[in-house]
Amino acid sequence: MAIRTILTQGDPALNKKCHPVTKFDGKLGDLLDDLKETLAQANGMGLAAPQVGILRRAVIVVPDPEKDEMIELINPEIVAEEGEQDGLEGCLSIPGMWGYVKRPNWVKVRAQDRRGNWFETEGTELAARCFCHELEHLEGHMYDEHTDRLYTSEELDDMMSGEEEDRRRERE
Ligand code: NI
Repeated sequence: MAIRTILTQGDPALNKKCHPVTKFDGKLGDLLDDLKETLAQANGMGLAAPQVGILRRAVIVVPDPEKDEMIELINPEIVAEEGEQDGLEGCLSIPGMWGYVKRPNWVKVRAQDRRGNWFETEGTELAARCFCHELEHLEGHMYDEHTDRLYTSEELDDMMSGEEEDRRRERE
């Protein structure tokens, strides 16, 4: 296993449509293991193969940040979705920035595992957001296309403490 370099915005690999995975071999296994190790080290919620320069339809998702579980999705597609949520999103390829993005509140995803077996998984709220975000990478798109502006963590801290102030004032 090896930590791979995460490409950042501006790298052309991030704007290309990825090819389906057709060989479920040891090389795919190595890529998935590397993606997992790279994601764990970066402390992220998801990582797509194009983010390490591999234009194949493979992503890793951490559906619940409270748990260690990582899901491998090969050739994934969203087969059902419901509702809407608006929330903050970030990306390891746009480090240090966040933006508000609307996503479905629930999605069902169909994908293959590393042996090529098809399965379905689903997620709500943060997990649904994560599935949508990662699958979009495979089309060469990123979340910042869906938001008017990006915020730095300092700007977000200021906004949050401002809201705290407002809430405190409401209580008083
Ligand atoms: Ni991302």
